[in-house]
Amino acid sequence: MCFSLVLVSFFSRSTLLFYKKSYAKRKGFNICKTLYSSQSNSVSSTTTQPLVRRSANYVPSLWSFDHIQSLPIKYKGNDYTSRRDSMMEAVKALIGNVRKPLTTLELIDDLQRLGIAYHFRYEISYLLEKIYHNFYHTHDKWNSMNLNLKALGFRLMRQHGYYVTEEIFCNFKDHIENLKPHLYEDMICMLNLYEASYHSFENESILDHVRDFTTIYLKDNFEYIPENLSSLVTHALELPLHWRVPRVEAIWYIEEYEKRNSMNPTMVELAKLDFNMVQAIHLEDLKHSSRWWRDICWEKKLSFARDRLVENLLWAVGINYLPHFSEERKTLLTVGALITTLDDVYDVYGTLDELYQFTDAINKWDINLVDELPDYMKICFHGFYNSMNHISYNALTQTGFFILPYLKKTWADLCNSYIVEVRWHHSGHTPTLEEYLENGYKSVGAPVILMHLSFLTSIGATEEILQGIEGAENIVRYSSLILRLADDLGTSSDEIARGDNPKSIQCYMHETGATEEEARKYIELLINKTWKKLNKARGGAKCRFLWEFSNGATNLARVAQFMYSNGDGYGRPDLIKSQVISLFFNPILAIE
Ligand SMILES: *[C@@H]1O[C@H](CO)[C@@H](O)[C@H](O)[C@H]1NC(C)=O
Ligand SMILES: *[C@@H]1O[C@H](CO)[C@@H](O)[C@H](O)[C@H]1NC(C)=O
Ligand SMILES: *[C@@H]1O[C@H](CO)[C@@H](O)[C@H](O)[C@H]1NC(C)=O
Repeated sequence: MCFSLVLVSFFSRSTLLFYKKSYAKRKGFNICKTLYSSQSNSVSSTTTQPLVRRSANYVPSLWSFDHIQSLPIKYKGNDYTSRRDSMMEAVKALIGNVRKPLTTLELIDDLQRLGIAYHFRYEISYLLEKIYHNFYHTHDKWNSMNLNLKALGFRLMRQHGYYVTEEIFCNFKDHIENLKPHLYEDMICMLNLYEASYHSFENESILDHVRDFTTIYLKDNFEYIPENLSSLVTHALELPLHWRVPRVEAIWYIEEYEKRNSMNPTMVELAKLDFNMVQAIHLEDLKHSSRWWRDICWEKKLSFARDRLVENLLWAVGINYLPHFSEERKTLLTVGALITTLDDVYDVYGTLDELYQFTDAINKWDINLVDELPDYMKICFHGFYNSMNHISYNALTQTGFFILPYLKKTWADLCNSYIVEVRWHHSGHTPTLEEYLENGYKSVGAPVILMHLSFLTSIGATEEILQGIEGAENIVRYSSLILRLADDLGTSSDEIARGDNPKSIQCYMHETGATEEEARKYIELLINKTWKKLNKARGGAKCRFLWEFSNGATNLARVAQFMYSNGDGYGRPDLIKSQVISLFFNPILAIE
């Protein structure tokens, strides 16, 4: 993804002097790989120049194998399950008793944000269906709805795949003339409008107005709004709900919800207990994967690469945190670890010749082709090859579906996209932003994750999945693009100044002459636009498979924004350490 701190020895700097070509105008770090790789042939035959490999000097994992294995798992077993079951019955009764549409929608919103809506899937679908047909379906009902009901309903409907036109807000300005910032009802309405606006598609200009207006209004009137709303508003202005990782949001919202005078104590209890029970499952997933990671020995044998198992759990849990997804999450952890290692092989450690041969072996899926490669590449290829065969074998025996051809294709695409970047790097070529992104949405690894995810989304028959994969092309593209852009925005100014491999920001600066600050703004704008496209593509997901899949893909984009919001949280895990601890290691307190 990105390599910070490339260390180059003095010796290697002096060898640069021999380097004649135009690369000389680029920064030293950039051409080292080129230089060494061009020497690599001769290294074995002549002993004049030792092969000096690059090192990205990644920080080691913050979590050792022994530490992970020693973490206690408390919240499992029948006692907790039966307590949870009885609270679920109570909440079901609560859901069955709501009558007013606004109260119903607020309840659904709370259940979702508390992270427990998955227990009440059928009840929620039934209620939304009913409210959609009673209120949102036709124009003639709109007059009977107040703006707050429209706004909250619009968001929940779009979130659940119902199409509601933006026209529902066409006269929103009429309603806001008499707004009073100190009134709770008025400000909750502003907040709901604000959140709704993030479900927009391209060219929905009413929603753009809604977004601009509410953002400015909430900011400008912040000091007047009721005290019990201020933390919600701050939270929303920091990042809209639609862009937040559900599991991370649940931790925040449980605490927030509990403070309300209107809160339901059973829902709070259930949310806490459920969080802890699901966390116990995540921790078991991690322990399992950490044994796999130890057994594959890459930490020792490929020590130049990042060891990011725990951070990969964040990606996997971010994509889908539900208990039943446990096996699938472990597969995603494997996939994440493989992508990270391959990325470091291409970005940092491998020489050009090695990388060409390695890519060839992946494209031909032929283990015989690694015979001549150095040990580290044999280990890398072999470990990768075994893992893919294992994943494919499991799918074949469990679902009867032979997925290996699809896996081969997507991993070959990934390695080919890496090679494009290596080639650019080698020749000193800075691509245009468009050229870069056309490759970059693949080289960020997201299409590989999503291809695996599509086979792990075990809804529907093989036929349906295959059709779904075709229909999901845009979802994959936009989700991957957000990941790429967010990742690039996490690139520090230091790296840019140092002239590391050009990413989006540098490509745009090079192409347009913009400053770094302007380029960052532009990339942010692209992310905002891509969200609208992703919303639209999701809206087109008609079958159940595609819908499930699109939720995972949307979550992938959310995790990306989370991971890179304060810099490269993946390269520098200390940046997200406290969140990792509260997500995976520390139960929520106050239950006994
Ligand atoms: C949005 O509008 C622009 C300009 O009118 C048009 O080129 C584009 O195709 C539209 N996009 C969509 C998704 O309708
Ligand atoms: C916040 O306070 C107002 C009164 O100012 C009250 O009407 C409202 O229900 C409170 N909201 C919550 C979520 O506690
Ligand atoms: C992108 O959207 C975010 C969230 O609404 C906003 O804060 C930011 O200003 C937008 N960026 C650009 C460049 O439009």
